[in-house]
Amino acid sequence: MKHFKKILISAGPTREKIDPVRFITNRSSGKMGYALAEAASSIADETVLVSGPVNLDVPANVRCINVESAAEMARAMLDEADNADLIIMCAAVADYRPKFVHENKMKKSDGDLTLVLERTEDILKSLGAAKKTNQILAGFAAETNDILQNAKSKLERKNLDFIIANDVSSSSSGGFGKDQNAVTIIDRSGRMEVFELCSKKELAEQIIEYIVSF
Ligand code: PMT
Repeated sequence: MKHFKKILISAGPTREKIDPVRFITNRSSGKMGYALAEAASSIADETVLVSGPVNLDVPANVRCINVESAAEMARAMLDEADNADLIIMCAAVADYRPKFVHENKMKKSDGDLTLVLERTEDILKSLGAAKKTNQILAGFAAETNDILQNAKSKLERKNLDFIIANDVSSSSSGGFGKDQNAVTIIDRSGRMEVFELCSKKELAEQIIEYIVSF
């Protein structure tokens, strides 16, 4: 199998602060991203995992950079991307964060509360815009409807080589927090490959094998 100098992978959720004790996050457990890092470590000189807050052990021979917010993840990913020959964004990055972070714990009042949210950085789009020749860039598309169509549109918009379409609807048996997953990988030419439901560890090995065989 082809050998890589450096593989860079993101995993887990981000946390976007509201005040010192509250934040906005999502249900990503990090399992898919950590399994990818483990699979990648057997074919790369160096494997770097940029991880949001999760409860998982870092796989052997993987350097982990722990981050919390989308802004921290963006900094870490862009810093590490320069000399990476394969990058996979598996993290569930928040698309929005509170526009104002309260310095003190917010007090409740009788009325409703409106939080104003602003966009976070689109890390994958920045990585796509800065992509080097010989760098392979893959993203995930977590979708609940029009899965393949939405995934293809992300592949094009973000200048990716592969998009890994993940059905995360409540009727699916894989996705956020689960031990198993099933995905469809689409490449730039439009070719699609379906990977049936199996453990995230097995799926990660299949995804890495498929991507590096290109
Ligand atoms: O962590 P687990 O519990 O194991 O679950 C795995 C998973 C379901 C989180 C994973 O398989 C998955 O689908 N990850 C992508 C989640 C996601 O945020 O997808 P998206 O379609 O919203 O984003 C598209 C792509 O852009 C993703 O590669 C994402 O990492 C990236 N992105 C999104 C927002 C943002 N601000 N910056 C980004 O780079």
